Amino acid sequence: MPSGHAVVAVDLGTSKACAIVAESLADGRTAIVGVGLCPAQGMAKGVVTDLDEASATVARAIERAERNSGYRILSAYVSISGAHLTSANGRGVVALPRQQPEITPGEISRVLAAASAVPALVNNEVLHVLPRTYTLDGQEGVADPLGMIGTRLEVEAHIISGSATTIRNVSTVLERAGVAIDELVPEPLAAADAALTPAERAMGVALVDIGAGTTDIAVFVEDAIWHTAVLPLGGNHLTNDLSIVLQVPFEAAEQLKITAGRAMPLPGVPDGHGAGDGDHLDVEGFDGATQRVSRRVAHEVIEARLEQLLTLVRKELRESGYDGALPGGIVLTGGTALLPEIAELTRQVVGVRARIGTPRRLAGLGESLGGPAFATAVGLAQWGLARQRPSEPVRRAMRSSRERRRSSRGLTGWLRELLP
Ligand SMILES: Nc1ncnc2c1ncn2[C@@H]1O[C@H](COP(=O)(O)OP(=O)(O)OP(=O)(O)O)[C@@H](O)[C@H]1O
Ligand SMILES: [Mg+2]
Repeated sequence: MPSGHAVVAVDLGTSKACAIVAESLADGRTAIVGVGLCPAQGMAKGVVTDLDEASATVARAIERAERNSGYRILSAYVSISGAHLTSANGRGVVALPRQQPEITPGEISRVLAAASAVPALVNNEVLHVLPRTYTLDGQEGVADPLGMIGTRLEVEAHIISGSATTIRNVSTVLERAGVAIDELVPEPLAAADAALTPAERAMGVALVDIGAGTTDIAVFVEDAIWHTAVLPLGGNHLTNDLSIVLQVPFEAAEQLKITAGRAMPLPGVPDGHGAGDGDHLDVEGFDGATQRVSRRVAHEVIEARLEQLLTLVRKELRESGYDGALPGGIVLTGGTALLPEIAELTRQVVGVRARIGTPRRLAGLGESLGGPAFATAVGLAQWGLARQRPSEPVRRAMRSSRERRRSSRGLTGWLRELLP
């Protein structure tokens, strides 16, 4: 039975905007009650490059999600990405007032603010202060001090900041699309919420979401977030390389990558010189005529760029200092994780185990969002559902008086039409 408390998530990616209306079920799973997808315009490398185009994209995704959920969408949890995001770990301490030693939400806000009072870069804004662990009067490892009594409260926290201008642009896009923002959530945190298992988080794991324009990284050790980063590289770079090397249009290269791409060349496939038909791929060239390209060359182009990308991931993990603390390995999400053999290449380049992550705990229409490209959108919804208090009136999404227009079967078919 759905709880009746719905949240809306909007993942504004480089290649697509995805709006989701979700409710939580009593068994902890997430029921997806509506989805709106729209190919993204006005975005590059995870950030807004054209306000009008990006807001039109979001408005279309929202409208589609409204139509097939029967909800009117008022506000949403919204993803934010881009290489402008930076992370740091800080420590905050506050003395608790003697006359009122019980810890209130106000005291918790005060200690988190103290932890985030690190010198900020010019024009940077703190987006999130995520408490890892509290210490109360010397007692370490307090998970939630609310309601406890003490005199001195300390917190260790993970702080994520970003460019104030870039953050402002995302707010403007949503405002123009007519949707208020419940919270801006960095993409790696959202994807991690959806794809990681509790055991992986406890062991030590890195979530690596390779989308179209960015690679989002989040490192968890002992169930707490330690490092986040965004690299301005993604699947679009693979397509660009294919387009240049094979001398075919971007769209044809994208199609080739999706239908026949591999992260590593097939063993035994020759380089195409004098090889049989199976060793070639037919692609539409610039003049509309069919062009033959070598399958092996296409695979080598993809492998070369992915190797470079994964080497940067390894470097990022090494510089963060947590590369030795990842028995859970790497969990890959994002559309690029669909490339066959990408987990194996990751294992070879980064030197840790790797698996493909898909959204967990989904119910109902969730099947349509079961792929790694939807980890961020589903994770955003789950982030929102976990933070929404049950007593709170449903203001984020209001069910309209009209019936839901589509059955789940209808919606799945409709989604299929939209998906690449
Ligand atoms: N089957 C596939 N094989 C290889 N690549 C794929 C496949 N399907 C999708 N992709 C690639 O995945 C990318 C899109 O992934 P995703 O939807 O996660 O990106 P996004 O969220 O829009 O972008 P970002 O998070 O980088 O801002 C595109 O580059 C696309 O070419
Ligand atoms: Mg994405």
